[in-house]
Order: sequence, then C-alpha cells, then structure tokens
Amino acid sequence: MMKTLVVVLSLSLTLLSFGGAHAATISFKNNCPYTIWPASFGNPQLSTTGFELPSQASFQLETPAPWSGRFWARTGCTDTSGKFVCEIADCGSGQLMCNGKTGFRPATLAEFTIAAGGGQDYYDVSLVDGFNLRMSVTPKDGTGTCKVSSCAADVNEICPSVLQKRGSDGKVVACLSACAQFGDPKYCCTPPQETKEKCPPTNYSQIFHDKCPDAYSYAYDDKKGLFTCSGGPNYLMTFCA
Ligand SMILES: *[C@@H]1O[C@H](CO)[C@@H](O)[C@H](O)[C@H]1NC(C)=O
Repeated sequence: MMKTLVVVLSLSLTLLSFGGAHAATISFKNNCPYTIWPASFGNPQLSTTGFELPSQASFQLETPAPWSGRFWARTGCTDTSGKFVCEIADCGSGQLMCNGKTGFRPATLAEFTIAAGGGQDYYDVSLVDGFNLRMSVTPKDGTGTCKVSSCAADVNEICPSVLQKRGSDGKVVACLSACAQFGDPKYCCTPPQETKEKCPPTNYSQIFHDKCPDAYSYAYDDKKGLFTCSGGPNYLMTFCA
C-alpha cells in the first residue's frame, strides 16, 4: 500500500516536472510613474491576455513551451459602464483581457519564441508597430548569448510630427511606424517590396534605429539571431526601464 503510494507519487511528480520543466516564467515590472495594462497575444493563447500593473508593481506569467507570442503595454485605459478602452495600444476587445485580439498601433512590442525542451529561444524588442514606451527584456538563468534586448530611449521625443500620436493632454504619447501611417509597401515590406533585398531601411526606420539600435525598426531589420538564449531561461520584462 505504502509502496504503491510512493510509486504513484513519484510518477506524478515526474510527469509534473517533465510537463513544466521548460515552461518560461515571464516577470513584468512597471517602472513607469503611471499604471499600465500589459497585454499578450500568442500561440497558444495564454490564459491571461491582459492585466493591470500599477506603477512599481510586478506580476508573473507562465508560458508553455513551445510558445511564440508578444507582449505590449496599453496606457490610458478606462472602464466606463463595462466597456474597457485604452487611449494607446487598445486591443479592441472591450475588456481587460484581449482574448486573441492584437494591439492597435502604436506600441513597443516584446516578441518571444520559447523553444521546447530547453532549446534556443528568440526574443526581441520591436518598433515595427511603433513606439509607446521604453521596454527591456532580460533573460535569467539561461545558457548562451542571453543579452538584454531593449529600447531604452524615449522615441516620442524625436518622433517626426507626421508620425506623432498625442494624448488628451496634448503631449506626444506614442509614435506610429511609417508603415502604419503611410501603408506604403516600401515602409511595410509588402508586395511588390516583400523581400529583404527589395525592402531596405528608410529615412523613417533610420530615426527609430538611431534612437534604439537594439530594437527592430522595420520588418527586415537585421537582428535575427542576435537575441537568443538556451536552456529554458526565464525573462524579466521592464516597462519604462
Ligand atoms: C522621408 O523621405 C520622404 C521621401 O521619400 C519625404 O517625403 C519625408 O519628408 C522624409 N521624412 C523624413 C522624416 O526625413
């Protein structure tokens, strides 16, 4: 009886640790002097696709492995008579949870590809969908390069007027990508300019690149393989880092 119990227990422990061994824990820290509402979009969809994060607060989420997806921060959110709406980077769900809806531009993105079995993860900070706030991604306890990826400068300060998005107080609160603003294939790398060769950097992507050289400034920015980490690391995402 005792022996059976021990076997059953150790078997279920083995199954548990096997199933959970290479899941990634993502910790979120809000260093902004205001509340933000982070959101996730991924495959498979996480059970938490949106949450409130007051200034200086932290929160943790688990992703399965493999998993690919992204996080961004919504700002200026209000909940009026049951309808949740954000001034910047709203996902259009009408709720705190985004439930598979993607962010409306502009928003700084943190993108992850978490490998199964402790293989090589990819992660980056991207301005391909614009910029709203500074962000960094720090891998913890991984093996390999495992560099910090960040956009640590305030792109809003140098945002060309044609790309600026202003808040209700008149301040620049976000910077649209040239693709979002003009929809031109040369900025979006869409047909007939859908390949890397046909879609070089532009004067707009260069502005983003100069301010945040570690972040993707447009679709074919040459960063592939720059931010990798193996061995099932966890990650810290800091907003307004
Ligand atoms: C970028 O180049 C386009 C022409 O290709 C020009 O109309 C635009 O003013 C330039 N913008 C900046 C910020 O230099």
